[in-house]
This record gives sequence, structure tokens and C-alpha cells, in this order.
Amino acid sequence: MNLKAVVFDAYGTLYDIQSVAEITEDAFPGYGEIITQVWRIKQLEYTWLRSLMRRYQDFSDVTRDSLAYALRVLGLAYENAAFERIIEKYLHLDLYPDAAIALTALKPRKLAILSNGSPDMLNALVRNTGLDGLLDATISVDAKKIFKPSPQAYELIGEVLGTAPEEVLFVSSNPWDAAGAKSFGLNVAWIERVTPEAMALACVETELVAPLTMFKAIRTQMDELGFAPDHRVRSLSELPGVIKG
Ligand code: LAC
Repeated sequence: MNLKAVVFDAYGTLYDIQSVAEITEDAFPGYGEIITQVWRIKQLEYTWLRSLMRRYQDFSDVTRDSLAYALRVLGLAYENAAFERIIEKYLHLDLYPDAAIALTALKPRKLAILSNGSPDMLNALVRNTGLDGLLDATISVDAKKIFKPSPQAYELIGEVLGTAPEEVLFVSSNPWDAAGAKSFGLNVAWIERVTPEAMALACVETELVAPLTMFKAIRTQMDELGFAPDHRVRSLSELPGVIKG
């Protein structure tokens, strides 16, 4: 592959969004996991709804609104301080443990993030986790006022990095994002963090299918949108092998 750039999705791909669960659990004992799941489902839904409604508000607003939704529907009363403490974690999410090593191994190609995150959120996150020294660009869809998977959002890669779509490997663990990037014309590596085998097992191992299983079923498995990724990997550390192959 004659690749000039490798571009990453941020939330769920380089950064573990489930790492908010410790703080949500601490603020609302017994509810940590369900909050993170409803929150993420609604956060993504709001990006798509706002894009369709042509009522863009940045990801920071969408992230706050979806957290407020999650706490309200779960019947949880909260103080502003608890809300702000949870939101603050979004600026300090855990990097997947293999992220920095994988990025380093992909150099000297250009490395960037293309994310739905707002510039403020992304710049703080990248700085707080030390990725600023490794990335050539942190690109926010905010410049286009529309969220992925709109083609306008993926266009930003070429506009910022000066690359053609076929010169870029786009990496995402979000199935809808992998499908959107492929539909746009990028080379795509999808990180399949929950294998179909693990998914099937989760469906049979309990009598009542657990809420986490529903989340996995709708957010971690490849979508039926007619755009399969070029590569399926299990973790970021497999990417250098993909590029050499
Ligand atoms: C991102 C989210 C939506 O664009 O995963 O980083």
C-alpha cells in the first residue's frame, strides 16, 4: 500500500470511552455501566439527528445533552458538581494501552485524528494524554458543522493533510464510522474489539440477555450498510502489520 497517512477516529478507537465507568459508578453506585451505555448510544444518536435536522451543535454540547438524558431517564437526581466531574473525564479518557506504541510504529507516515469531537475537547484530550507529540494534526468535524459519517466530514482529511482518499488508511472501531469512511473512498481498517464469537457467547451465557449485551450488539458489530472494511484487526498493535502487508 502506498499510504501517506493513517487517520484515526478518537472516541472508542484511540481512547477507551468505557473508562468513564469508574467515575459514573462512583457518582451513582450500581448505575455506572448503564449510564455509560445509554450516554454513548444517545451521544451518537444526537450527532446523527442534529446532522439530519441541520441543527449542528458541537460535540461538547451533544455530550452534555446525552449525559443529562441518561441521568434523567434512569431517574437519577444529581448535583452540578457530580455532572461536571463526569464530563471532565472526557478530557482525560484512558488511551488504549497499545496506542502510543502503534502510532510510533506507523511513522514516518502522517498521523492524524479525525473526530466528531469539538476542537476544545480534542485538543485537551490529546495534550492530556501526550499524543500531541505523535500526531501531525487533530482534525475536528466542527470545521464543517456536520458529523461523521457525512462525506463532508471525511473530506477534511484531504483538505488538511493534502492527501487523496486512496493514500489514506482510516482506522476506527466504530462500525458506522468504518462504513462511512469506506463509502467515502478511504482505505479502512476496522478494529473489531468484540468478536462475533464473544458476542454469541454473551447472548447464551445468561438467561436474561444483559444490558451490556444489547450495547455490544448495536455498537460493536459491523453494520449492514453494504460497505465492508478492507482490514479487520483486533487491536491497534496489529496496524503496522496491515501497512506492511
Ligand atoms: C469520534 C467518535 C464519534 O468521532 O467516535 O471520535
